[in-house]
Amino acid sequence: MELIVARNRDDLAKARGGGDVALVPTMGALHEGHRSLIRLARSRADQVVVSVFVNPLQFGPHEDFSRYPRTFEADLDVCRAEGVDVVFHPSAEDMYHPGRQVSLLSGRMGEIVEGASRPGHFDGVLTVVLKLLNLVQPRVAVFGQKDAQQLALIRRMVADLDVPVEIVGAPTVREPDGLALSSRNRYLSADDRQVALALSRALRAGAAERTPAAVRAAAGEVLAAAGPRLDLDYLVLVDPATFTEVGEEHAGEAVLAVAARIGTTRLIDNVTLTLNPA
Ligand code: PAF
Repeated sequence: MELIVARNRDDLAKARGGGDVALVPTMGALHEGHRSLIRLARSRADQVVVSVFVNPLQFGPHEDFSRYPRTFEADLDVCRAEGVDVVFHPSAEDMYHPGRQVSLLSGRMGEIVEGASRPGHFDGVLTVVLKLLNLVQPRVAVFGQKDAQQLALIRRMVADLDVPVEIVGAPTVREPDGLALSSRNRYLSADDRQVALALSRALRAGAAERTPAAVRAAAGEVLAAAGPRLDLDYLVLVDPATFTEVGEEHAGEAVLAVAARIGTTRLIDNVTLTLNPA
């Protein structure tokens, strides 16, 4: 089957047909991590739709919206190689109606951790994700665990608003040296990239511990050793569903999440671990 490129909502409606669809929402600059989402989507439905849309609503005024990598032709090659059925690539004008007034609020959960550093970010994410779900009407939608708070908020939105879709989380894909794949890695110089490895090293050190205090201490030590070129934004140990910090008595799953700026690039990463096992 030839890949169909739908550049607006009418093309999408024609390409969409009535079948069983899995959606992979992306902002393009597709890499091996996206390929793994697409493969998971392929295993879960008859038709795979990938959206490629750099969503202006989720970038703050001083963030990297204008320099965010846009590599549409290469993205199409990836989609062809992965057997994607439809790529939805709307313009901002097509996605957002003139005179638009209404958008989603991500609530308290969207204001903490990543949301504290990026005010309004999750409101923009949820607004575009809900629009994509409404336009594509998939049975399943696949998101990366790499953006753990985004995934948790999307699950929350689907539950709170009774959106008829199954949300599937896909494991983070890493380089052999541990760096989590991200479209923003291409901003890193060779030296920055070496410094950035401290993020995944810190998460591995934390994940080897069993109590919240030991996890925080082990990860914090690795980050401190990375030196001043790693500008730490946060290191938190949170409940996977609510993203609130866990206490020392917490038993069960938790997410250790980190964000840091290296040069001009801001990276995030996380790992899921088990605390105080029986
Ligand atoms: O994770 C992303 O790439 C984006 O936040 C998403 C989910 C495609 C919404 O723009």
